[in-house]
Amino acid sequence: MAHGNHMKDGGKPKEAKKTFLRLISYMACDRRLLLVIGFLIIVSLVSSLAGSYMIRPIINDYIIPGDLQGLVRILLILGAVYITGVAAVYIQYRLLNEIGQRTVTRMRIELFGKMERLPITYFDTHQHGDLMSRYTNDIDRISDALTDSLSDMLSSALSLVGIFVLMLYISPVLTLVTLITVPVMFLFARMTVGKSRKYFRAQQESLGHINGYIEEMISGQKVIKVFGHEKQVISGFDVRNEDLKGKSLKAQFYSGLMMPVMQNLNTLNYVIITIAGALLAIFRGFDVGGLAAFLQYSRQFGRPINELASLYNNIQAAFAGAERIFAIMDEAPEMPDAPDAVALNDVKGDVTFSRVFFGYKPGKTILKDVSLHARRGCKIALVGATGAGKTTILNLLPRFFDIWEGEITIDGCPVRSVTRESLRKAMAIVLQDTHLFTGSVRENIRFGRPDATDAEVVEAAKLTAAHSFIKRLPRGYDTLLENDGANLSQGQRQLLNIARAAVADPPILLLDEATSNIDTRSEILIQQGLDKLMEGRTSLIIAHRLSTIRNADLILVLEDGRIVEQGNHRELLQLRGRYYSLNQEQFEAY
Ligand SMILES: Nc1ncnc2c1ncn2[C@@H]1O[C@H](COP(=O)(O)OP(=O)(O)OP(=O)(O)O)[C@@H](O)[C@H]1O
Ligand SMILES: [Mg+2]
Repeated sequence: MAHGNHMKDGGKPKEAKKTFLRLISYMACDRRLLLVIGFLIIVSLVSSLAGSYMIRPIINDYIIPGDLQGLVRILLILGAVYITGVAAVYIQYRLLNEIGQRTVTRMRIELFGKMERLPITYFDTHQHGDLMSRYTNDIDRISDALTDSLSDMLSSALSLVGIFVLMLYISPVLTLVTLITVPVMFLFARMTVGKSRKYFRAQQESLGHINGYIEEMISGQKVIKVFGHEKQVISGFDVRNEDLKGKSLKAQFYSGLMMPVMQNLNTLNYVIITIAGALLAIFRGFDVGGLAAFLQYSRQFGRPINELASLYNNIQAAFAGAERIFAIMDEAPEMPDAPDAVALNDVKGDVTFSRVFFGYKPGKTILKDVSLHARRGCKIALVGATGAGKTTILNLLPRFFDIWEGEITIDGCPVRSVTRESLRKAMAIVLQDTHLFTGSVRENIRFGRPDATDAEVVEAAKLTAAHSFIKRLPRGYDTLLENDGANLSQGQRQLLNIARAAVADPPILLLDEATSNIDTRSEILIQQGLDKLMEGRTSLIIAHRLSTIRNADLILVLEDGRIVEQGNHRELLQLRGRYYSLNQEQFEAY
């Protein structure tokens, strides 16, 4: 499991710093806005610090001497200072919100773009729900952190510095006293930080697992009901839910621990300073205004530390989310085209496999020494038992996977040395498992070639015998398909998939069990359609019912990843080998 690993190796502070910097780099596009925000933070900070400092002259120069007029004047100034601060904070939050949303939008775009560049293997090996969780939960955590926590952290950190300087200015001795408790605070913070970070990562991961599970169970509802697995499924969910609860509890506990402890330390600090300050005022003539201002600061000094601690919660969750998102972004994309890759133009459709070896996983060879030659416009059929490797052969031509050994060529050009885009444009595939998108029937057919006209869509549907059933749909070609065409029968879905290939009008056709879900009568219809469709195109077809491939130019019999027999229908029957017995079996079965 690729996503289980980084729990161990991501815990180092260096890793956290990298994640942080990378997160920041997403905001860098809004540099100017960030500068404005930085300026506003400073304005609000200065006004708050100045406001607190003004207590000193208010007490010393106006209250103690009893200067009422002066007092009113300085209070007005104080009011103005505070209002400026509040306004700065308000604007700052509005802007941050905007930046935060823009940043996560950029991340979502990049994440989705990346997904479209990942190899098929990635989706084979990752739970879809977990991937989806990264788009939703993880992105949300980041958005929360960027909009609220980040600026708060920044202003907290800055005010920490500012307050410290002012405290030092008012009374170095009292500042020293304050520093007694500060190291304890920092030590404690560091301790809890490590722990909560670990559990926040575990929490997000666990959330991903639970989402993966839910997604799987939703799509498998029918199977679950038929086999009466509801109870097991629920208890499976409970296990994951408990796991999530445990991890969340721990994450919350460690991050929640910080606040109260810090507050107590802060109160302790306050008491110590009050006593020390009072002694200084009595015995050393320290001014009362100064003491009042200092106490104000010392309380404020604790606040940013508190805030940093509580914000930590959000930041941790965001980091954990960011790590999971970056993990996808760092995933190796589909091998890029060779730098000297050429575009495949005017494809005639001469396909060869020579001595091809391939397996999905290292060490497990699936295709062994497969060679075939499909001349332009030929119809080649692949037959063989389940798991023999028929679909695998079709997967290799559009380079969903790359072969280990041997060579595949189109018109004499090795597929490795042409651009994937032009390669895939040269062929249309009807997959064994159909897929339809949310949208109208027309849009789904047009998916094969976006610039096809309405007339061409209808023509393709007529050719592949889909037209008659589409006409009977409530809104014909405008009928909306939802949820992978759940409102259609399996055979109808297959017909639409075939029509989609037809409208693409490519020189090479790959059909995987295209007629497997279709009744015998429709099959004859569609067979005629397919025959017309295949005319003049190189076609590689896989069929279970041998009757549909009788007229193929070449039939290849696969057994355990090897081609064991080849020839046309008549030749193979005469051979009285594998094909012959396959044929006999089917003949008897019907
Ligand atoms: N995505 C995959 N990852 C790993 N192994 C796979 C994958 N797809 C298929 N295989 C393995 O490759 C072998 C050949 O599978 P393939 O799908 O080519 O069979 P097939 O001849 O098309 O069978 P069927 O008639 O059932 O469609 C099988 O043993 C299967 O276990
Ligand atoms: Mg197959």
